[in-house]
Amino acid sequence: MAQIVAATNNLKKLTELRKMLADQEVEIIGLDRYKNYPEVEETGATFEENASQKALAANRYTDLPAFADDSGLCVEALGDEPGIHSARYAENDAARIAKLLAALQGQDNRRAKFVCVIAIAFNGEIIETFRGEVHGVITDVPRGSNGFGYDPIFMPDGYDRTFGELTAEVKDKISHRARAVKAAVDFVEDEMSSCFDDFGC
Ligand code: IMP
Repeated sequence: MAQIVAATNNLKKLTELRKMLADQEVEIIGLDRYKNYPEVEETGATFEENASQKALAANRYTDLPAFADDSGLCVEALGDEPGIHSARYAENDAARIAKLLAALQGQDNRRAKFVCVIAIAFNGEIIETFRGEVHGVITDVPRGSNGFGYDPIFMPDGYDRTFGELTAEVKDKISHRARAVKAAVDFVEDEMSSCFDDFGC
């Protein structure tokens, strides 16, 4: 079976990605397989740049095709922050949530979106990047303990529950990560079918 490296150290992200790709004929290898894998600094100014840096680093280190996701929460009233700084916004999930709710105190506009960009790297080059978004609002208080990160304060449009309250099955159908993964899988399937058509391979 073909192998691809998922360039993330976040085990909850890896679990979501593995579930979303369970039907694909591909073995997803986590970075935990590589004990001396170096810390990759995220120096990009966009989700696309950071995802590409992480995917390229993993592809070069492992010599296997690799993909990485860079994701975050963009809050309209905060000029789309924390955005690419979502993981570094404060030192842990509880502190990040508390800081965000404090920043939004008294704010009527609670619109926000989760963004996920997946980059695929092969032979030392980025093949393509794929973006998924889910729009919604930030709640006044955290609700639920499912998922990770900012899930307890994000309520997607069309639902009256936060990602922290919704089941993994629901989140994994509508999330930014699910949408980016679907775009990536569609692209790979299309490329492969044109390869079949053109070369009979
Ligand atoms: P990254 O690992 O640099 O992509 O950081 C992404 C950060 O954005 C995570 O550490 C979370 O704080 C936040 N984030 C991304 N996706 C999600 C999600 O699905 N739920 C909740 N928080 C998320």
